Amino acid sequence: METKRRVFSGIQPSGNLHLGNYLGALKNWVELQDEYENFFCIVDLHALTVPQDPKVLRRKIRELAALYLASGIDPQKSVVFRQSRVSGHTQLAWLLNCVAKVGELSRMTQFKDKAQKGGAEAASVGLYDYPVLQAADVLLYNAHLVPVGEDQRQHLELMRTLARRFNGLYGETFVVPEMFIPPAGARVMALDDPTAKMSKSSPTPASYVAILDEPDAVRRKIRRAKTDSGTEITASPEKPAITNLLDIYAAATGRAVPDLEEAYTGKGYGDFKKDLGEVVVETLAPIRERAMELLDDPKGLDDHLEAGAERARGVARSTLHDAWAKMGLD
Ligand code: TYM
Repeated sequence: METKRRVFSGIQPSGNLHLGNYLGALKNWVELQDEYENFFCIVDLHALTVPQDPKVLRRKIRELAALYLASGIDPQKSVVFRQSRVSGHTQLAWLLNCVAKVGELSRMTQFKDKAQKGGAEAASVGLYDYPVLQAADVLLYNAHLVPVGEDQRQHLELMRTLARRFNGLYGETFVVPEMFIPPAGARVMALDDPTAKMSKSSPTPASYVAILDEPDAVRRKIRRAKTDSGTEITASPEKPAITNLLDIYAAATGRAVPDLEEAYTGKGYGDFKKDLGEVVVETLAPIRERAMELLDDPKGLDDHLEAGAERARGVARSTLHDAWAKMGLD
């Protein structure tokens, strides 16, 4: 039997999962699912790098499991599990910590951005070390492909560097993973500010469309999304707001931006946004409904996650033992 190449990806169970997470990540996971052997992780340890309320975190973990499944991740085809339930992630992270350099982590823009908000001195060591744990996540499964949004590019580069360095120092151990960043929807911008990324942790709900937003809220948010001056529906650097809306439309429907520009020639922003609202509702409403059903059975979700962790542990153990042995810990 031909063995399939592996995919690994993960999302943090923090904040409200939004359209950007769906178009930039989840949708592509579902599309890759048949071709690969898949590991889709709820990265709960990554969520701890900033303060979390334990009660909320517990709920968010289940919610994320429900959203994975409702989006079309099939536990028969993909291993769905929680990072904290497979101890190999933190164990390998330590080995990689001893290979990663302070200078490399200091250059990570996500850390710099987040640390800047609260002051780098006050940021947790976990937040600083976050990309090393992320590298461990993927390398532990010897994944070939990592489907993510554009904001993860630098973390993926570091992961590749660490894999290559480890292999160079200790002998061939890890697959050097490739990233998969989709042509559209890889960087969905905030609806109220097209110069900022749509973010799960935003305090302004109008800035994002949550996957669990009710259809009317989705329509309203898109209708009120910021637009640029002028009237034409065209993508250009001078028109970041309409460019973002066109990108969302393209990612959700699979249509090309020039095709959409042509279809909307002579039409106004109002018509365009009305249609886009419907496109987004059609995309998200079935996921929302299915997720709500799944959330009615928390035990069922927990069982899926535990079964996934059991499968993940088997793969993780053998890679970890190999890395230990290469470093002289056998
Ligand atoms: P996280 O939880 O911030 O985001 C999850 C996924 O959503 C993508 N994404 C976006 N895509 C398009 N537009 C946006 N506005 C947008 N915002 C987020 C992210 O690129 C990501 O793919 N560090 C990761 C989680 C992680 C991980 C991993 C990913 C931990 N270990 C191993 C891949 C492999 C993160 O915080 O993603």
